[in-house]
Amino acid sequence: MEAEAKPLIQTLELKEDVPAKIVGPAPCVTFSGEHQGLSVHVVWNGRCKDHGVDNVGTVPASLSTYLAVLAFKPDVVISAGTCGGFKAQGAAIGDVFLGTAVINHDRRIPLPSFDKYGLGHAQLLATPHLQAALGLKSGVVSSGNSLDYTDKCMEIMTAHGAALKEMEAAAIAWACALYKVPLMCVKAVTDIVDGDRPTAEEFLENLHSAAAALQSTLPKVLGYLAGKELAQL
Ligand code: ADE
Repeated sequence: MEAEAKPLIQTLELKEDVPAKIVGPAPCVTFSGEHQGLSVHVVWNGRCKDHGVDNVGTVPASLSTYLAVLAFKPDVVISAGTCGGFKAQGAAIGDVFLGTAVINHDRRIPLPSFDKYGLGHAQLLATPHLQAALGLKSGVVSSGNSLDYTDKCMEIMTAHGAALKEMEAAAIAWACALYKVPLMCVKAVTDIVDGDRPTAEEFLENLHSAAAALQSTLPKVLGYLAGKELAQL
């Protein structure tokens, strides 16, 4: 969402790519610049022209990732944004997590082999040294196309030890895998999935503080990546 991307774009002093690096009708908007010797590109999924709100969920995420990887040929992709966190996995509001793996909790296809395809379990780039250096929590990220969840979604998230619930990472992982580009997830917690507050209310209350937490952590992540091989992370 723009509210998640904007503070980071400002902090890193990135500029919108003009002319556009990804041309329409794809709705994503890209911003580029240098940070500690790295070329950094932030990709925002843009706004829905019919509803005037940010494009969210797995469909815009996979389209943007596919086109951005083609346009920028990155060494690594970072899915950065907000998420719900599971207190049972140690998450608290405002925590910033590194993802270890992704799954989908809303692609239930009870047919031979399609069941595993639907779950779409994929490992993320292992970053144990980065995690220790920055003192971040880590866990499995579960993606789906709803801010809420069904009992069945919860059963799947619990069975796979999800620590975080959001709406993009598994789709981004799918597009990155097509190009064999490693993916990291850096996610700030806006709401507690296994808590007692209504998600939308808690999300809106904490969106800006979580985006601020993200904006203070991401430059540190980039600083740690600079000059290192992926295996050193
Ligand atoms: N983004 C922030 N909180 C979320 C939640 N609980 N579910 C999905 N996406 C989110």
